[in-house]
Amino acid sequence: MSVYKKIIIKDLKGSFKYPIFIGRDIINQIRFDFQKQIKNKKVFLIYDDFFNPINKASNPVSKLKKIISQVTTSLKVFPVKSRDTNKNFNKLQSLIEKMLFYKIDRDSVIITFGGGVIGDIGGFAASILLRGINYIQMPTTLLAQVDSSVGGKTGINTKLGKNLVGAFHQPAKVIIDTSLISTLPKRELYAGFAEVIKYSLICDKDFFQYLDLNYKKILMMKKPFLEDLIFKSCLIKSKIVSQDEKEKGVRAFLNLGHTFGHAFEALLNYKNSHLIHGEAVAIGICMAFRLSEKLNLCSKDDVIKVENIISKFKLPNCIKKHKNLKLDYKKVFKKLYSDKKVKNGKLTFVLPKGIGNTILKNNLKEKTILDFLKEEIHE
Ligand code: GLY
Repeated sequence: MSVYKKIIIKDLKGSFKYPIFIGRDIINQIRFDFQKQIKNKKVFLIYDDFFNPINKASNPVSKLKKIISQVTTSLKVFPVKSRDTNKNFNKLQSLIEKMLFYKIDRDSVIITFGGGVIGDIGGFAASILLRGINYIQMPTTLLAQVDSSVGGKTGINTKLGKNLVGAFHQPAKVIIDTSLISTLPKRELYAGFAEVIKYSLICDKDFFQYLDLNYKKILMMKKPFLEDLIFKSCLIKSKIVSQDEKEKGVRAFLNLGHTFGHAFEALLNYKNSHLIHGEAVAIGICMAFRLSEKLNLCSKDDVIKVENIISKFKLPNCIKKHKNLKLDYKKVFKKLYSDKKVKNGKLTFVLPKGIGNTILKNNLKEKTILDFLKEEIHE
């Protein structure tokens, strides 16, 4: 009997369709299907060096190598450090040149096994190598399992901004082994909850209530809570991406909290010691609610509920209280203009209209934004 869950994500216009498999020790459950896809092909496995050394049989990368090697003699492995500072042109170039050296061809398969950094850089390499290679996402962090591995966004950071260079390139499959979550450092686990909470805030009030009610069991990783919320998050994301792959409309809602969050990450040079992506998003979400309250789009009560749930999941809700970080609000303001949603020099904010409802707003006055940032960052 199968105990995994499966979501088919498909573009309404028919340009892509692929499965997301979710379950414990999932690779063994779908081994046949997985092996069929890579049989006799050249396989390039890019994995998070967090899993090094991989010489023990119980190591997840070692187990994966064994399964791959049963159906192909051509497997090359590349460990990559999963820091956001590594998601850059140099690392991309070095990975691409290594894969070209080993004669990657159009029939090859790239497998990314790791967190968001690994999936984003490996997926981007797959999108540009030989004008597009098939790749399989095997996310190992909560954040990657609920967000970055699904939907085909790939890319790297530059000094000017986060994820500004990239491509939409959908994976052939997403394979989510929920048992890997227990290997995560706690900080990484908590960071993933920011994206989960985000889904509830943008479109699902009942899901918000579920998270608020069950947070203790979720944090204790009681079954089936964590698996259920990974499934629910992937389902919400799949529905949104199916309607709007290239972010021409509703997909922009998935950026709730990211406009501010990305600006902080870039200004802090993507140093994970200061802030990791999920923490930046958590702060950004709270800021979006506080800004909405100022604009009379949501109530003070909503702001308090959101700040509370963010704290319950052990995430920061305010930049000036987080690790004593000192930022210049004018620099943050300038950085906001690197956001991909800027059109004709105008900022677009994803703002909540209460819990479970979101809008886009692109007509805020500069002074409103500057005053708000000054309050958030300096006062
Ligand atoms: N992480 C936001 C998106 O995939 O659109």
